[in-house]
Amino acid sequence: MSRILITSALPYINGIKHLGNLAGSMLPADVYARFKRGQGHEVLYICATDEHGTPAELAAAAAGQDVRTYCDEQHEIQKRAGEAFGLSYDWFGRSSNAPNRRLTQHFAHVLEANGFIEERVDRMIYSIDDARFLPDRYVEGTCPHCGYRPARGDQCDNCGRLLDPTDLIEPYSAVSGSTKLEVRDTRHLYLLQTRLEDRIRAWIESRSDWQTLARSIALKHLDEGLIDRGITRDLSWGVPVVGPDGGPRPGMEGKVFYVWFDAPIEYIGATEEWAEASGRTWRDWWRLDEGADDVRYVQFMGKDNVAFHTVSFPATILGSGEPWKTVDTLKAFNWLNWYGGKFSTSQKRGVFMDQALELLPADYWRWHLTAYGPEGSDAAFTWEQFQATTNKDLADVLGNFVNRIVKFAESKFDGVVPDGGEPGPLEGKLKADVRAGIAEATEAFEAMEFRKACQAIRAIWVLGNEYLQEAAPWTAFKTDIERSAVGVRTGLNLVALFARIAAPVMPFTAERIATTVGETDLSWPSANAPLLDRMPVGRTVSAPEVLFRKIEDAQVAEWSERFGGADA
Ligand code: MF3
Ligand code: ZN
Repeated sequence: MSRILITSALPYINGIKHLGNLAGSMLPADVYARFKRGQGHEVLYICATDEHGTPAELAAAAAGQDVRTYCDEQHEIQKRAGEAFGLSYDWFGRSSNAPNRRLTQHFAHVLEANGFIEERVDRMIYSIDDARFLPDRYVEGTCPHCGYRPARGDQCDNCGRLLDPTDLIEPYSAVSGSTKLEVRDTRHLYLLQTRLEDRIRAWIESRSDWQTLARSIALKHLDEGLIDRGITRDLSWGVPVVGPDGGPRPGMEGKVFYVWFDAPIEYIGATEEWAEASGRTWRDWWRLDEGADDVRYVQFMGKDNVAFHTVSFPATILGSGEPWKTVDTLKAFNWLNWYGGKFSTSQKRGVFMDQALELLPADYWRWHLTAYGPEGSDAAFTWEQFQATTNKDLADVLGNFVNRIVKFAESKFDGVVPDGGEPGPLEGKLKADVRAGIAEATEAFEAMEFRKACQAIRAIWVLGNEYLQEAAPWTAFKTDIERSAVGVRTGLNLVALFARIAAPVMPFTAERIATTVGETDLSWPSANAPLLDRMPVGRTVSAPEVLFRKIEDAQVAEWSERFGGADA
């Protein structure tokens, strides 16, 4: 048994997330957390809302709310949506809470003491009409690298480069649209990443366990050369910049840390929130000198987040010179597209987490987004594919198997696991095939290859159907009741097994399936343990209400109309 710390990229507070966000970080992190818990490991799965910075301020302004009220409300909404989707966070924190504020200020102090932070007079964009500086996303314009418009002041959505607002060509204010902008002097703290470059490179090279996508993005950023980055902003919402004693810092009044400086620190902050709430300690998860050396730390994120997690956040951690835990395995995801294009709220393209659950239960989505998610490359969500995979994998293959065998036990064997007969060659072959399938699914999950794991799981469900087809207990029942009893008993044991292997991806359904055969054990099966003769003879079973409803063409038509589809 080992200790595994899992984090998924912290969702911005600005509104409930769409299925692309879910598929690219929170959901796979949850599946992995459930898989690892199912194996008996001690898992701490941490997430939080990322509440500072211009996205929060802009969204609050658009909603006509003050930013704190807006964040309070949105945090609750995202928390509830996560629960409804079965995201099994051990803690869902807030980057605006006190632990993150203390930790962020602490990191800034030690970085400065170590010579990695300096004050610089900066030239920043000031909007005359708005009477304020326009950091980051407050300014938009044309990307100097690829010509994309509108690129945001902090990053180009098209080419992925990190930007400085002053890099933008033909900039304008995102608040008012005004182009009456000028460049003014303002003091800011700079993190001297150039002085940390060698350390970061050596650290990345020491990480043997990263996926190719993450490693290549990290090395690309290093090869392009790191730059010193401003880590403070002229904003009022955020972690205040203070002096070493916690009091005001002359020349820095009214400034806060840049959101990308404080947000990843919230991984630690949220762990502290969890510890406070549960009477546990957080330091043995995060401090190598206090017990964290045996923790394995796994991060999940979309590919646009990789540079921040492989370069910027490590610069903070390594520059502190303190023994903090750093990421061991980093799993990055590509984009989930909506048909060929992007999800877009304003153009009614795509489904958000709350809307999805109005249409269908969480597990339909969880299965599709995990089994056909944007893993090796970008993936497109289409209603037609969603319909096809749901109807086949869930209704025809899994749901049908469970219904058929449990109903038959009810009608012919008094609704109990029947006694009698001995397993024969057919059961022997099934056992060997199932063991091989479990080994394959386990290996894929260990490697965090989720699509592959789902294919292996599905293949095991198919084995069950093939077995029933051959064993045909309904035919045997008329001539050889013992043979029929073996088929039913084996089938019911398969039902219990199918619930266990479904559990990481479809936790709600797994529980319902297990209940039909009186099981509560949803741990991940080991390929070598007894699998097909575990269930006590004589136990009562009862068929479920329909496990999965097929998605009808009429529904596809209606949903395409409402959320966008092939012709949108
Ligand atoms: N909120 C960011 C995004 O959605 C992710 C922040 S991850 C963190 O892109 F670690 F920095 F918090
Ligand atoms: Zn660009």
